[in-house]
Amino acid sequence: MFVLLTMSIAAWEGNVSIETPQTQIILHAKEGQDLRMAYYGLRTATLGELKASGCDFDFSVLPAFGTVDMVQLPAIQVQHSDGDLNLELQVVNYELQKEGKADVHLFTMQDKLMPVTVKTFYKAYREVDVIETWTEIVNGGKRAITLKRFDSGHLPLRQGDVWLTHLHGDWAAETNVVQEPLTLGCKVIRNTDGARNAHIDAPEVMFSLDGHPSENHGRTIGAALCWSGNYELRINTLLNKFHHFYAGIDPQSSEYVLDPKESFATPHLALTYSEQGMGGVSRNFHRWARTQGKLHRGNGVGDILLNSWEGLYFDINEERMLQMMDDIKQLGGELFVMDDGWFGDKYPRDIDNSSLGDWVVDTRKLPDGIPGLLRDAKKNGVKFGIWIEPEMANTVSELYEAHPDWIIKAPGREPVQGRGGTQVVLDLTNPKVQDFAFSIFDNLLSNYPEIAYIKWDANAPVMNHGSQYLPMDEQSHLYIKYHEALIQLCQRIRAKYPDVIIQDCASGGGRANYGLLPYFDEFWVSDNTDGLQRIYMQWGTSYFFPAIAMASHISAVPNHAVFRTTSLKYRCDVAMSGRLGMEIQPKNMTDDEKAFCRQVISDYKRVRPVIQFGDLYRLHSPYAGDNLASLMYVSKDKQQAVFFWWKLETLKNQHVPRIKMAGLDPDKYYTVRELNRIDNKPLPCEGKSYSGAFLMQTGLEMPYTHDVDYNKLNDWASRVLQLTAE
Ligand code: GLA
Repeated sequence: MFVLLTMSIAAWEGNVSIETPQTQIILHAKEGQDLRMAYYGLRTATLGELKASGCDFDFSVLPAFGTVDMVQLPAIQVQHSDGDLNLELQVVNYELQKEGKADVHLFTMQDKLMPVTVKTFYKAYREVDVIETWTEIVNGGKRAITLKRFDSGHLPLRQGDVWLTHLHGDWAAETNVVQEPLTLGCKVIRNTDGARNAHIDAPEVMFSLDGHPSENHGRTIGAALCWSGNYELRINTLLNKFHHFYAGIDPQSSEYVLDPKESFATPHLALTYSEQGMGGVSRNFHRWARTQGKLHRGNGVGDILLNSWEGLYFDINEERMLQMMDDIKQLGGELFVMDDGWFGDKYPRDIDNSSLGDWVVDTRKLPDGIPGLLRDAKKNGVKFGIWIEPEMANTVSELYEAHPDWIIKAPGREPVQGRGGTQVVLDLTNPKVQDFAFSIFDNLLSNYPEIAYIKWDANAPVMNHGSQYLPMDEQSHLYIKYHEALIQLCQRIRAKYPDVIIQDCASGGGRANYGLLPYFDEFWVSDNTDGLQRIYMQWGTSYFFPAIAMASHISAVPNHAVFRTTSLKYRCDVAMSGRLGMEIQPKNMTDDEKAFCRQVISDYKRVRPVIQFGDLYRLHSPYAGDNLASLMYVSKDKQQAVFFWWKLETLKNQHVPRIKMAGLDPDKYYTVRELNRIDNKPLPCEGKSYSGAFLMQTGLEMPYTHDVDYNKLNDWASRVLQLTAE
């Protein structure tokens, strides 16, 4: 709900301070001039002081092609109906609106010559230090205009040993942390997958302004583009004392025609600033996600689940489903999820080369259908979830036979086919396809309201560049309209089904982004469930996303992606640091392994509120190169904490650093209890109390190996400690 408070620009003397509890952006909004940014940092500055300090931080918020000099990149470019490519934006109005727990500052600008209006928004949260910015372009003329570039925002950064942190990966190797100093020239991070946008490069970055990125110190800015489609992040560095950061939808192949009276809104760019280094930025993002609706789950805890994929792959049948439900119940879990392989009538889904689109139960595998599965789940006292891939089809499917025109491909051309040699992407720009995708949910959830969880997958990029639905002169709208339609589909689903838990999966972590997470409860971090590689991947993911969003499952060894054999304890200790689940065939586990997992699950239930809702402190990076990673979660009231310590590699006589904890109350005394203990003797710290000050200044010594019988020795070592304040 908006409450409008219109302020005259004069009342503000042209200076607008956009404020969160700790931070502030100062804009200079003089009527008749372009909108300029003078400051982003802690809430201590005034424009007068900044000017008196000799600060020349004074840049157009939205540099427009035509008014910026040719070396500075534009953030916005429009081609007017007469072919003119210039924009000269002048502020004509400023409004302050209240929207829930945020202040929305709206600056309206107008081109000097042509009837094009550009509205720039800044949404400042009153309880978290995040400011979102976005832009709306309105064609006020009588003829169409073409949008050639439409960034969500631009941020100047004063030069001086500024470092960029970003994530880069691939399928089964998501979110590797990359850190590099910004140097002269233009650095571009972009995604052109079409359907998913987080596998290779991620649309979130951090800037460490005071030299090499530090976890706890230094001025640090975080930026997350809230968009699920193609994007482009640019950092342009000139000899003018500033780096210029731009973020927006990738304009490549996406020129957008705006008809008279139409408007185009960019996705939001979320910005946060902290003087507590990268850790401070992460905690700001996590809090914003959890408390401001940027992650759908809100305050409900994430259930402990067993997913059938790595345990069975396509080999689904009723007996095996029943067995897995029974197993997860016996282990103390709360939910069972049936993955791929349950559907298809004319074309049964036995491998990945057919049936997507034919969302009917394969009654050869599941004679009692979904009612039978729900009956079995009820009997076992677990919730039931199911896998779907609503935006996709196989060319071997009844759907494709009936609607070959529903897939994304250029009219007249043969489609390139993906996974299984037959997978194609449905054309969500087509309203009939939108209705179809909605009906997949609606049929499942209205017929079977007991379904508690949906795993929504997306296993193909856009491989065919064209739409059979859009007119030929709007082919370049495909990449944008697809994602606008995807969001509308999510909104339609959430309006009717607000409570079902939906996992955001796209061949693993291909869709971990804040464009989609407001509608999803969690995401699948990666198809790689190897304990060791997950430490690296979850580390990178944690820069921007809270633990509750990270589905993190215990799987079998040798691991199915990297064939490494880690110990069960190690896999459990890693999986416990996110939303714990299992991705395994319990039938193949020994009784001892089951007993261990039962204990892990029962302990996780006790500490899960701390992990899922607590503040994250990353203590020692796996990227430090000394074979150790450690992090901890601390509850808001600092009464509870959970500490994780994982050794990465074992070399004889190799020493790893002693870890100091963080985030605790220095004056409180914490009793330590080891979880998932396998050692014959407890640790020296077991049951003892230490002040928060001691734990943070000195820390506890962790033995490098486990004290176990000879036949149980292996090269994996890890610890999980629960800390409870007296
Ligand atoms: C993707 C997902 C997996 C699994 C398979 C099923 O790869 O990431 O978890 O659901 O699809 O085909």
